Amino acid sequence: MRIEQLTCNIGAELVGVNLADAVHDDGLFKEIKNALLKHKVLFLRDQEISRADHVAFAERFGKLEDHPVAGSHPEYPGLVQIYKSPDTPIDRYENAWHTDATWREAPPMGCVLRCVECPDVGGDTMWANMVTAYEMLPAHVKEQIAGLRARHSIEASFGAAMPIEKRLALKAQYPDAEHPVVRTHPETGEKVLFVNAFTTHFTNFHTKEHVRFGQDASPGSSMLLNYLISQAFIPEYQVRWRWKKNSMAIWDNRSTQHYAVMDYPPCHRKMERAGIIGDTTF
Ligand code: SIN
Repeated sequence: MRIEQLTCNIGAELVGVNLADAVHDDGLFKEIKNALLKHKVLFLRDQEISRADHVAFAERFGKLEDHPVAGSHPEYPGLVQIYKSPDTPIDRYENAWHTDATWREAPPMGCVLRCVECPDVGGDTMWANMVTAYEMLPAHVKEQIAGLRARHSIEASFGAAMPIEKRLALKAQYPDAEHPVVRTHPETGEKVLFVNAFTTHFTNFHTKEHVRFGQDASPGSSMLLNYLISQAFIPEYQVRWRWKKNSMAIWDNRSTQHYAVMDYPPCHRKMERAGIIGDTTF
């Protein structure tokens, strides 16, 4: 296996490897996992592997989870189908910078995504390195956010287009989660800026250390949150991947955000995603 770095800060392509082999080969799996921790997102071309192998490879990292809104493949629980077609309603967009499912108490540790079908051009996906995003923050911002916690909610994203009863039921089933604004990666020990499109507000900002006058709290805290959320948009922290049929991506969801670019004309784009259950170690 060759590892070809794609940018200075994030992403590498694995060449000369078939993920189906890593299902049974412990040494190969360990090499891939180490590369994932280092590069944060890995890419592969020409992976003509079965759905069973896709699932079995992802399960080497841990158990898989379904998504409450996007359905899974009927024969493969945990293999979420992200299918767009010319008749897909516009509300099924995918384009906001996010870390998957931070509205869960234990957000996924990572995902393994395979392209089943895609347009000839368009529909790329981008990832951002949130360890670099934290490292590059000005010192006074790092100081300001140390110890802050924030709320993450499914309600205003996946719930927004639902009738109110359904939205409230979704929220009751998946109550908002609270996470530190700066998390520590459980395996690498790196500090990660951990707010994204699912983050609604800080929960412990309104103290005398942060708030001198009301304006510091409102609009001050939401301005700070927006500033932090916008760090993922900085191109120097990003990698962009152009899909082809049977291309795959494996990402560490604890240290990255991603954005599926919806620039393609009405056409089919079919992706299958195995999301690996994470833990509550922050
Ligand atoms: C996702 O947000 O997990 C899906 C990314 C994609 O469809 O490219």
